[in-house]
Parts: sequence; C-alpha cells; structure tokens
Amino acid sequence: MLTILGVVVVGILFFWLFGLKLIIKFMKKGSAPCPASLSWIVDLPIRRRYMRPVLDRVGIRPGETVLELGPGPGAFTIDAARRLGPQGKLIAVDIQPEMIAKLEERVRQAGLTNVEAHVASAYELPIEDASVDRAFLVTVLPEIPDPVRALREIHRVLKPGGLFSTTEEYLDPDYPRRKTTVAWAQAAGFDLAERFGNVWVYTLNFRKGAGKG
Ligand SMILES: C[S@@+](CC[C@H](N)C(=O)[O-])C[C@H]1O[C@@H](n2cnc3c(N)ncnc32)[C@H](O)[C@@H]1O
Repeated sequence: MLTILGVVVVGILFFWLFGLKLIIKFMKKGSAPCPASLSWIVDLPIRRRYMRPVLDRVGIRPGETVLELGPGPGAFTIDAARRLGPQGKLIAVDIQPEMIAKLEERVRQAGLTNVEAHVASAYELPIEDASVDRAFLVTVLPEIPDPVRALREIHRVLKPGGLFSTTEEYLDPDYPRRKTTVAWAQAAGFDLAERFGNVWVYTLNFRKGAGKG
C-alpha cells in the first residue's frame, strides 16, 4: 500500500516539475512571444496564488511612474495600477496588439484611469529618456531574442537610481537560471540590489547603475 502511495506521490511530483512544463512548451509550439490564444494560462487561479508575492517584491510606491513590459492580458496590471493610486501612472507595453486589447478591456472594467497602454517592441519603447521611476517584467525577458538590448532600452527610460525588477517562474518553458538573468542585467548596466524567492519563482531587483548601457 505504502509503495503504491509512494509511486503516486512521485508521479504527481514528476508531472508537476517536468510534465506540465513540457505540455506548456508543446502548446506554445516553440513560438516567442507567447501567443495571445494561450493568455488564459497566466490567469489560472493556482498561478495567481503562488505569484501573489511578486508585486510586493517589485515595491511599487504611490505616485510613481512605472513601466510594465510584456504585461500580456494584464494579470499584474490592475493590482499594480491600484497600488500607484490616482497620482501615479502605469505604462504597459506589449508587442502583441491582442494582448493590449485584452489588457485595455480589463483596465476599463476596473474603472482605472492611470494606465497607459502601448503596442510596441521592447527594443523601441515609446517613452522619454529618464522618465520612469521603476520598471517590472514577469516571465518576459527570455521571450525576447536579445534580452540585453531590451534591458538597455529599459535602462534608457529609467531615472537615475531607478529600479528594475524581473520575475521568472520554473513552469515557463523559457525559464532562465538566476545567474543568466543577472548576467543579462549587468551587461545592460544594472547593479543587483535584491533577490527573492526560490527556484520555483524568483524575483531579482536591480538599480540603474553608473555602468555602460
Ligand atoms: C509569458 S507572457 C507574460 C505575461 C505577464 N507578464 C504575466 O506574467 O502574466 C509574455 C509577454 O511578453 C510579451 N513580449 C514578448 N516579447 C516582447 C517584446 N519583444 N516586446 C514587448 N513585449 C514582448 C508577449 O507578447 C507576452 O504578452
């Protein structure tokens, strides 16, 4: 009896760690960016639950101007915009028009007026130099073919001393290891400031440094 139970537990664990990741990879059909038809995955209640600490880690403060790059359908956008309050502004930029359409509908339903949404590439943000207090990304960087180029663009729009936060989750088929993300950010001129989480979901916060980028 105990053996059968052990096999079932190991089987569930194995599926959770590897099988699910493979299924998501298959559904994405290797495409990057993640197609809008799969946007429901980011809104699954179980994901919302284990991703709950993410915005606390980003550290948004009322009144700030914040960039969310790659928001998808907006799983974090509404909460982020509410934390900013009416004096703050959230600039959401995604390369896929379908994602921005879903996000705008969500913002409208929430009755928020402090969200500005743009369809644009991470390589050419429609934002002025040194105008943003904070930028955050959740499971976006590894979908971008040249992440360092995108990070240099984020570096450009951040104010001096501005903060950039990136979160990755293991279930994402493109999941990069922490040291890979740190190397990308440092190559773009960021200094590592804080680290949170574990191998399942990690968040790294960086500060705009004096380095190149
Ligand atoms: C896996 S989804 C994550 C959505 C959301 N951040 C979340 O975690 O719920 C990645 C998002 O990044 C966007 N994206 C990918 N490459 C991009 C690029 N080069 N420029 C702007 N957005 C991009 C995709 O369109 C997609 O909406």
